[in-house]
Amino acid sequence: FKPFLVSAPGKLILFGEHAVVYGKTAIAGSVSMRAYALVTPRSDSKVRLVLPDISVDVQFDTSKLPQLNPSELSHPCEVENHVGCASVPEGPGRMAVLTFVYLFGCLLAQKPTKGFTVCVRSLLPVGAGLGSSASFNVVLAAALLQLSGQLYKDGKSTADRQLINEWAFAGEQVAHGTPSGIDNSVATYGGFLAYTRGQKPQNLNSSNALRVLITNTNVPKSTKALLAGVRSLRDKHPQVIDGVLDTIHSVAISAISLFESQGEDVEEKLQDIIRLNHGMLSTLGVSHLSLERIREITAAHHMASKLTGAGGGGCALTLVPSNASDETVEDVKRMLAHEGFQCYQTTVGGAG
Ligand code: PMV
Repeated sequence: FKPFLVSAPGKLILFGEHAVVYGKTAIAGSVSMRAYALVTPRSDSKVRLVLPDISVDVQFDTSKLPQLNPSELSHPCEVENHVGCASVPEGPGRMAVLTFVYLFGCLLAQKPTKGFTVCVRSLLPVGAGLGSSASFNVVLAAALLQLSGQLYKDGKSTADRQLINEWAFAGEQVAHGTPSGIDNSVATYGGFLAYTRGQKPQNLNSSNALRVLITNTNVPKSTKALLAGVRSLRDKHPQVIDGVLDTIHSVAISAISLFESQGEDVEEKLQDIIRLNHGMLSTLGVSHLSLERIREITAAHHMASKLTGAGGGGCALTLVPSNASDETVEDVKRMLAHEGFQCYQTTVGGAG
Protein backbone atom coordinates (compact mmCIF):
# COMPACT_ATOMS: atom_id res chain seq x y z
CA PHE A 1 0.00 0.00 0.00
CA LYS A 2 0.93 3.65 -0.36
CA PRO A 3 1.55 5.71 2.80
CA PHE A 4 -1.61 7.47 3.98
CA LEU A 5 -2.65 10.05 6.57
CA VAL A 6 -5.84 10.10 8.65
CA SER A 7 -6.89 12.78 11.10
CA ALA A 8 -9.65 13.44 13.63
CA PRO A 9 -10.60 16.46 15.74
CA GLY A 10 -10.84 16.86 19.50
CA LYS A 11 -14.04 17.77 21.33
CA LEU A 12 -15.31 20.51 23.52
CA ILE A 13 -18.36 20.30 25.77
CA LEU A 14 -20.27 23.49 25.00
CA PHE A 15 -23.23 23.06 27.34
CA GLY A 16 -24.58 20.57 29.85
CA GLU A 17 -21.54 19.07 31.60
CA HIS A 18 -22.40 17.56 35.01
CA ALA A 19 -26.14 17.73 34.31
CA VAL A 20 -25.59 15.10 31.59
CA VAL A 21 -24.67 12.64 34.36
CA TYR A 22 -28.26 13.00 35.65
CA GLY A 23 -29.90 12.29 32.30
CA LYS A 24 -29.99 15.86 31.00
CA THR A 25 -28.83 16.87 27.52
CA ALA A 26 -25.31 18.07 26.74
CA ILE A 27 -23.99 19.71 23.56
CA ALA A 28 -20.48 19.03 22.29
CA GLY A 29 -18.62 20.17 19.21
CA SER A 30 -15.43 19.24 17.35
CA VAL A 31 -12.39 21.50 17.82
CA SER A 32 -10.06 22.23 14.93
CA MET A 33 -7.03 20.94 16.86
CA ARG A 34 -6.60 17.37 15.60
CA ALA A 35 -4.73 14.09 15.95
CA TYR A 36 -2.91 12.83 12.81
CA ALA A 37 -1.85 9.26 12.02
CA LEU A 38 0.65 8.61 9.26
CA VAL A 39 0.72 4.98 8.13
CA THR A 40 3.72 3.75 6.12
CA PRO A 41 4.54 0.27 4.79
CA ARG A 42 7.61 -1.67 5.92
CA SER A 43 9.73 -4.25 4.16
CA ASP A 44 9.68 -6.63 7.17
CA SER A 45 6.72 -8.18 9.04
CA LYS A 46 6.88 -5.89 12.06
CA VAL A 47 4.30 -3.38 13.24
CA ARG A 48 5.61 -0.28 14.94
CA LEU A 49 3.62 2.32 16.90
CA VAL A 50 5.30 5.69 17.36
CA LEU A 51 3.76 8.39 19.59
CA PRO A 52 6.45 11.09 19.81
CA ASP A 53 4.29 13.36 22.01
CA ILE A 54 4.26 10.82 24.86
CA SER A 55 7.63 9.15 24.13
CA VAL A 56 6.21 5.82 22.94
CA ASP A 57 8.03 3.81 20.27
CA VAL A 58 7.13 0.11 20.34
CA GLN A 59 7.59 -2.59 17.77
CA PHE A 60 5.91 -5.98 17.59
CA ASP A 61 6.36 -9.03 15.44
CA THR A 62 2.92 -9.54 13.87
CA SER A 63 3.06 -13.27 14.66
CA LYS A 64 3.56 -12.49 18.36
CA LEU A 65 0.45 -10.35 18.78
CA PRO A 66 -2.67 -12.19 19.98
CA GLN A 67 -5.65 -12.71 17.69
CA LEU A 68 -8.61 -11.30 19.58
CA ASN A 69 -12.24 -12.11 19.07
CA PRO A 70 -14.35 -9.28 20.51
CA SER A 71 -17.27 -11.67 21.13
CA GLU A 72 -15.05 -13.68 23.47
CA LEU A 73 -14.21 -10.63 25.58
CA SER A 74 -17.09 -9.60 27.82
CA HIS A 75 -15.70 -6.05 27.76
CA PRO A 76 -12.89 -4.60 25.64
CA CYS A 77 -11.05 -3.42 28.75
CA GLU A 78 -10.28 -7.09 29.49
CA VAL A 79 -7.70 -6.89 26.73
CA GLU A 80 -4.98 -6.53 29.37
CA ASN A 81 -5.46 -10.20 30.34
CA HIS A 82 -4.92 -11.33 26.76
CA VAL A 83 -1.70 -9.61 25.84
CA GLY A 84 0.79 -11.41 28.06
CA CYS A 85 2.99 -12.07 25.03
CA ALA A 86 3.28 -8.43 24.05
CA SER A 87 5.73 -6.11 25.71
CA VAL A 88 3.45 -3.29 26.72
CA PRO A 89 5.27 -0.37 28.37
CA GLU A 90 4.22 1.07 31.73
CA GLY A 91 3.48 4.79 32.03
CA PRO A 92 1.27 7.23 30.16
CA GLY A 93 1.56 5.42 26.83
CA ARG A 94 0.37 2.08 28.22
CA MET A 95 -3.31 2.59 27.42
CA ALA A 96 -2.48 3.82 23.92
CA VAL A 97 -0.38 0.71 23.25
CA LEU A 98 -3.05 -1.60 24.73
CA THR A 99 -5.67 -0.01 22.48
CA PHE A 100 -3.40 -0.54 19.49
CA VAL A 101 -2.84 -4.19 20.42
CA TYR A 102 -6.61 -4.64 20.89
CA LEU A 103 -7.58 -3.07 17.56
CA PHE A 104 -4.79 -4.88 15.73
CA GLY A 105 -5.79 -8.18 17.38
CA CYS A 106 -9.44 -7.76 16.37
CA LEU A 107 -9.00 -6.31 12.89
CA LEU A 108 -5.71 -7.50 11.44
CA ALA A 109 -4.14 -10.37 13.37
CA GLN A 110 -6.16 -13.01 11.51
CA LYS A 111 -5.19 -11.59 8.12
CA PRO A 112 -1.78 -12.01 6.51
CA THR A 113 -0.43 -8.51 7.02
CA LYS A 114 2.75 -6.90 5.76
CA GLY A 115 4.56 -4.80 8.31
CA PHE A 116 3.72 -1.15 8.80
CA THR A 117 4.48 1.82 10.99
CA VAL A 118 1.80 4.05 12.50
CA CYS A 119 2.99 7.40 13.81
CA VAL A 120 0.40 9.49 15.66
CA ARG A 121 0.91 13.16 16.56
CA SER A 122 -1.65 15.35 18.23
CA LEU A 123 -2.12 19.08 18.64
CA LEU A 124 -4.49 18.45 21.56
CA PRO A 125 -3.27 18.91 25.11
CA VAL A 126 -3.55 15.62 27.02
CA GLY A 127 -5.82 15.43 30.08
CA ALA A 128 -7.41 18.83 29.47
CA GLY A 129 -10.91 17.49 28.74
CA LEU A 130 -10.51 18.09 25.00
CA GLY A 131 -10.99 14.47 23.91
CA SER A 132 -7.36 13.74 23.01
CA SER A 133 -7.84 10.04 23.72
CA ALA A 134 -10.96 9.79 21.54
CA SER A 135 -9.31 11.49 18.58
CA PHE A 136 -6.37 9.09 19.00
CA ASN A 137 -8.74 6.12 18.99
CA VAL A 138 -10.59 7.41 15.93
CA VAL A 139 -7.42 7.79 13.84
CA LEU A 140 -6.17 4.41 15.01
CA ALA A 141 -9.47 2.68 14.21
CA ALA A 142 -9.65 4.40 10.81
CA ALA A 143 -6.05 3.45 9.96
CA LEU A 144 -6.44 -0.22 10.95
CA LEU A 145 -9.84 -0.56 9.24
CA GLN A 146 -8.33 0.92 6.08
CA LEU A 147 -5.40 -1.55 6.25
CA SER A 148 -7.82 -4.45 6.78
CA GLY A 149 -9.72 -3.46 3.63
CA GLN A 150 -12.99 -2.80 5.47
CA LEU A 151 -13.50 0.80 4.39
CA TYR A 152 -15.24 1.43 1.08
CA LYS A 153 -14.79 5.16 0.66
CA ASP A 154 -11.62 5.99 2.61
CA GLY A 155 -13.70 6.52 5.71
CA LYS A 156 -15.89 9.17 4.09
CA SER A 157 -19.19 7.28 3.65
CA THR A 158 -21.84 7.04 6.38
CA ALA A 159 -21.28 3.28 6.71
CA ASP A 160 -17.51 3.78 6.97
CA ARG A 161 -17.91 6.43 9.66
CA GLN A 162 -20.26 4.22 11.62
CA LEU A 163 -17.71 1.40 11.56
CA ILE A 164 -14.87 3.73 12.57
CA ASN A 165 -17.00 5.12 15.40
CA GLU A 166 -17.84 1.64 16.72
CA TRP A 167 -14.20 0.55 16.80
CA ALA A 168 -13.05 3.87 18.25
CA PHE A 169 -15.64 3.41 21.01
CA ALA A 170 -14.22 -0.06 21.71
CA GLY A 171 -10.78 1.60 21.92
CA GLU A 172 -12.18 4.15 24.36
CA GLN A 173 -13.51 1.28 26.49
CA VAL A 174 -10.02 -0.25 26.66
CA ALA A 175 -8.66 3.08 27.90
CA HIS A 176 -11.51 4.35 30.11
CA GLY A 177 -13.76 1.43 31.07
CA THR A 178 -17.23 2.91 30.63
CA PRO A 179 -17.06 6.11 28.58
CA SER A 180 -20.29 7.71 27.35
CA GLY A 181 -19.30 7.57 23.68
CA ILE A 182 -19.76 11.28 23.06
CA ASP A 183 -16.04 12.01 22.56
CA ASN A 184 -15.49 9.39 19.85
CA SER A 185 -18.76 10.37 18.13
CA VAL A 186 -17.68 14.01 17.91
CA ALA A 187 -14.19 13.01 16.69
CA THR A 188 -15.71 10.74 14.01
CA TYR A 189 -18.57 12.88 12.72
CA GLY A 190 -17.39 16.41 13.57
CA GLY A 191 -19.86 19.30 13.83
CA PHE A 192 -22.11 19.63 16.86
CA LEU A 193 -23.84 16.79 18.70
CA ALA A 194 -26.58 16.72 21.30
CA TYR A 195 -26.13 13.87 23.73
CA THR A 196 -28.44 12.39 26.34
CA ARG A 197 -27.43 9.28 28.29
CA GLY A 198 -28.78 6.05 26.83
CA GLN A 199 -29.77 7.73 23.56
CA LYS A 200 -28.05 7.87 20.19
CA PRO A 201 -26.15 11.18 19.80
CA GLN A 202 -28.11 13.58 17.62
CA ASN A 203 -26.23 15.49 14.93
CA LEU A 204 -27.17 19.16 14.98
CA ASN A 205 -27.81 20.85 11.68
CA SER A 206 -25.52 23.79 12.06
CA SER A 207 -23.59 25.23 9.18
CA ASN A 208 -21.72 27.74 11.31
CA ALA A 209 -18.44 26.87 12.94
CA LEU A 210 -17.86 29.03 16.02
CA ARG A 211 -14.68 30.99 16.71
CA VAL A 212 -13.55 30.29 20.26
CA LEU A 213 -10.64 30.61 22.62
CA ILE A 214 -9.86 27.58 24.73
CA THR A 215 -7.87 28.52 27.80
CA ASN A 216 -6.11 25.89 29.84
CA THR A 217 -5.79 26.99 33.46
CA ASN A 218 -3.09 24.32 33.95
CA VAL A 219 -4.79 23.66 37.30
CA PRO A 220 -5.04 19.88 37.61
CA LYS A 221 -8.58 18.65 38.29
CA SER A 222 -10.08 15.39 39.41
CA THR A 223 -13.25 14.66 37.46
CA LYS A 224 -14.08 11.96 39.99
CA ALA A 225 -13.84 14.33 42.99
CA LEU A 226 -15.87 17.03 41.21
CA LEU A 227 -18.60 14.54 40.30
CA ALA A 228 -18.67 13.34 43.92
CA GLY A 229 -18.96 16.96 45.12
CA VAL A 230 -22.02 17.60 42.96
CA ARG A 231 -23.56 14.32 44.06
CA SER A 232 -23.16 15.11 47.74
CA LEU A 233 -24.63 18.61 47.28
CA ARG A 234 -27.60 17.04 45.50
CA ASP A 235 -28.04 14.47 48.27
CA LYS A 236 -28.24 17.30 50.80
CA HIS A 237 -30.42 19.66 48.77
CA PRO A 238 -32.23 17.55 46.17
CA GLN A 239 -34.89 20.09 45.26
CA VAL A 240 -32.49 22.99 44.90
CA ILE A 241 -29.90 21.06 42.90
CA ASP A 242 -32.47 19.33 40.68
CA GLY A 243 -33.72 22.82 39.84
CA VAL A 244 -30.19 23.85 38.81
CA LEU A 245 -29.77 20.68 36.71
CA ASP A 246 -33.12 21.33 35.02
CA THR A 247 -32.00 24.87 34.19
CA ILE A 248 -28.78 23.54 32.64
CA HIS A 249 -30.94 21.19 30.58
CA SER A 250 -33.02 24.17 29.39
CA VAL A 251 -29.80 25.94 28.39
CA ALA A 252 -28.79 22.93 26.26
CA ILE A 253 -32.23 22.78 24.64
CA SER A 254 -32.03 26.53 23.84
CA ALA A 255 -28.58 25.92 22.35
CA ILE A 256 -30.03 23.27 20.01
CA SER A 257 -32.58 25.69 18.61
CA LEU A 258 -30.00 28.48 18.37
CA PHE A 259 -27.59 26.26 16.42
CA GLU A 260 -30.33 25.37 14.00
CA SER A 261 -31.61 28.95 13.50
CA GLN A 262 -30.16 31.80 11.47
CA GLY A 263 -31.51 34.92 13.22
CA GLU A 264 -29.40 38.03 13.76
CA ASP A 265 -29.54 37.75 17.52
CA VAL A 266 -28.20 34.16 17.63
CA GLU A 267 -24.72 35.23 18.70
CA GLU A 268 -26.02 37.47 21.48
CA LYS A 269 -28.27 34.70 22.79
CA LEU A 270 -25.40 32.21 22.64
CA GLN A 271 -23.35 34.60 24.78
CA ASP A 272 -26.23 34.82 27.25
CA ILE A 273 -26.56 31.07 27.64
CA ILE A 274 -22.79 30.63 27.96
CA ARG A 275 -22.88 33.04 30.94
CA LEU A 276 -25.98 31.36 32.37
CA ASN A 277 -24.48 27.88 32.06
CA HIS A 278 -21.28 28.98 33.77
CA GLY A 279 -23.30 30.56 36.58
CA MET A 280 -25.14 27.28 37.13
CA LEU A 281 -21.89 25.30 37.17
CA SER A 282 -20.44 27.73 39.65
CA THR A 283 -23.58 27.23 41.79
CA LEU A 284 -22.82 23.49 41.69
CA GLY A 285 -19.39 24.28 43.15
CA VAL A 286 -17.28 23.19 40.19
CA SER A 287 -15.75 26.53 39.19
CA HIS A 288 -12.30 27.64 40.37
CA LEU A 289 -10.57 30.97 41.00
CA SER A 290 -8.54 30.48 37.82
CA LEU A 291 -11.72 29.96 35.77
CA GLU A 292 -13.31 33.05 37.33
CA ARG A 293 -10.21 35.06 36.42
CA ILE A 294 -10.55 33.96 32.77
CA ARG A 295 -14.22 34.94 32.88
CA GLU A 296 -13.33 38.41 34.24
CA ILE A 297 -10.58 39.09 31.69
CA THR A 298 -12.72 38.04 28.73
CA ALA A 299 -15.85 39.81 30.07
CA ALA A 300 -13.89 43.07 30.14
CA HIS A 301 -13.64 42.64 26.34
CA HIS A 302 -17.34 41.78 25.95
CA MET A 303 -16.68 38.07 25.49
CA ALA A 304 -18.63 35.34 27.29
CA SER A 305 -16.79 32.42 28.89
CA LYS A 306 -17.66 29.26 30.75
CA LEU A 307 -15.78 26.31 32.11
CA THR A 308 -15.82 23.26 29.87
CA GLY A 309 -15.71 19.67 31.09
CA ALA A 310 -15.52 18.79 34.74
CA GLY A 311 -14.30 22.21 36.01
CA GLY A 312 -12.24 22.75 39.19
CA GLY A 313 -9.46 23.96 36.86
CA GLY A 314 -9.07 22.37 33.46
CA CYS A 315 -10.20 24.51 30.53
CA ALA A 316 -12.52 27.44 29.85
CA LEU A 317 -14.10 28.28 26.53
CA THR A 318 -14.70 31.81 25.30
CA LEU A 319 -16.90 32.68 22.36
CA VAL A 320 -15.16 35.17 20.07
CA PRO A 321 -17.89 37.48 18.73
CA SER A 322 -17.92 37.93 14.96
CA ASN A 323 -17.30 41.68 15.36
CA ALA A 324 -14.23 41.26 17.60
CA SER A 325 -11.16 42.70 15.86
CA ASP A 326 -7.94 40.69 15.56
CA GLU A 327 -6.34 43.27 17.86
CA THR A 328 -8.93 42.69 20.58
CA VAL A 329 -8.48 38.93 20.34
CA GLU A 330 -4.70 39.31 20.52
CA ASP A 331 -5.07 41.61 23.58
CA VAL A 332 -7.21 39.04 25.36
CA LYS A 333 -4.80 36.23 24.49
CA ARG A 334 -1.87 38.29 25.76
CA MET A 335 -3.62 39.03 29.05
CA LEU A 336 -4.50 35.38 29.55
CA ALA A 337 -0.94 34.29 28.78
CA HIS A 338 0.33 36.94 31.20
CA GLU A 339 -1.63 35.19 33.99
CA GLY A 340 0.12 31.92 33.14
CA PHE A 341 -2.75 30.38 31.16
CA GLN A 342 -2.30 28.61 27.85
CA CYS A 343 -4.68 29.95 25.26
CA TYR A 344 -5.61 28.31 21.95
CA GLN A 345 -7.59 30.11 19.26
CA THR A 346 -9.62 27.58 17.36
CA THR A 347 -12.98 26.87 15.76
CA VAL A 348 -15.69 24.51 16.96
CA GLY A 349 -17.98 22.56 14.68
CA GLY A 350 -15.60 21.66 11.84
CA ALA A 351 -15.18 18.37 9.98
CA GLY A 352 -14.77 14.96 11.63
O1 PMV B 1 -13.39 17.23 31.80
P1 PMV B 1 -13.94 15.95 31.31
O2 PMV B 1 -13.74 15.73 29.84
O3 PMV B 1 -13.57 14.79 32.16
O4 PMV B 1 -15.52 16.16 31.39
C1 PMV B 1 -16.36 15.50 32.24
C2 PMV B 1 -17.78 15.86 31.90
C3 PMV B 1 -18.76 15.55 33.03
O5 PMV B 1 -20.04 15.91 32.56
C4 PMV B 1 -18.45 16.39 34.25
C5 PMV B 1 -18.71 14.09 33.41
C6 PMV B 1 -19.29 13.16 32.39
O6 PMV B 1 -18.97 11.96 32.47
O7 PMV B 1 -20.10 13.56 31.54
